[in-house]
Amino acid sequence: MKSTTRSLRALKGVRPIVCLTAYDVSTARIADAGGADLILVGDSLGNAVLGLPDTVGVTLDMMIHHSAAVVRAKTEALVVGDLPFGLAHDSFPKLLGYCRRFLQEGGVKAVKIEGGASLAPAIARLVDAGIPIMGHVGMLPQRVHSAGYRRRGLTPEDQQKILIDAQAVAAAGAFAMVVECVDETFMPKITEAVSVPTIGIGSGRGCDGQILVIHDLLGLTPEPPPFVRPEANLHRDAVAAVRRWAAKVRTKKSK
Ligand code: KIV
Repeated sequence: MKSTTRSLRALKGVRPIVCLTAYDVSTARIADAGGADLILVGDSLGNAVLGLPDTVGVTLDMMIHHSAAVVRAKTEALVVGDLPFGLAHDSFPKLLGYCRRFLQEGGVKAVKIEGGASLAPAIARLVDAGIPIMGHVGMLPQRVHSAGYRRRGLTPEDQQKILIDAQAVAAAGAFAMVVECVDETFMPKITEAVSVPTIGIGSGRGCDGQILVIHDLLGLTPEPPPFVRPEANLHRDAVAAVRRWAAKVRTKKSK
């Protein structure tokens, strides 16, 4: 059954929500056939696919190009596009224009925005304009150069900040939110405190769903984050397949 923002929101408290990233038609087909409810065209595109050191160099044009490829897979899963670095802090007319391009040119059904309470007014205006928004609180990879990749929610002060961010994003009308690398003993308190699904990554089991970068899950990333348990080793298997074929070519056993 086709997932929508409304059907996903209604899953809170009913069953865990399965989310994965995808960046092209092949990864989207794999995620969808595997039963993902939501596919995020993440700006992890930068690290996972484009060989960039982080997500900061990813542009809206790159995201729209890859989103359109994912959408062409015609998935049952809801496809969400990730707003790249810095754009959420632009003026509202510009921000609305970026989101409009994502929906009209990229074909995604919702946009994910990294950031907390300070972005809540913009999120509320986007939702009012008919743009479904997924929030993203906790560790924010787009802030790698100002805050680093550090686990969040380890002190009472930081927990309070994350809670305020999550509640503000939910109150602004986000249909769900990613909660990244938050202390797992604190995570259940966030899930209880908001009315929309929390989708965890590296935040333990106390979430309404989980998301992973598909390359990490499938064993295509040389050094996946420590919280990932890859379910396959596609890099090893693909290299072995290429070597078998290369040997056949060299011994003239392949046509
Ligand atoms: O860019 C991304 O892939 C993400 C997920 C890891 C949540 O933001």
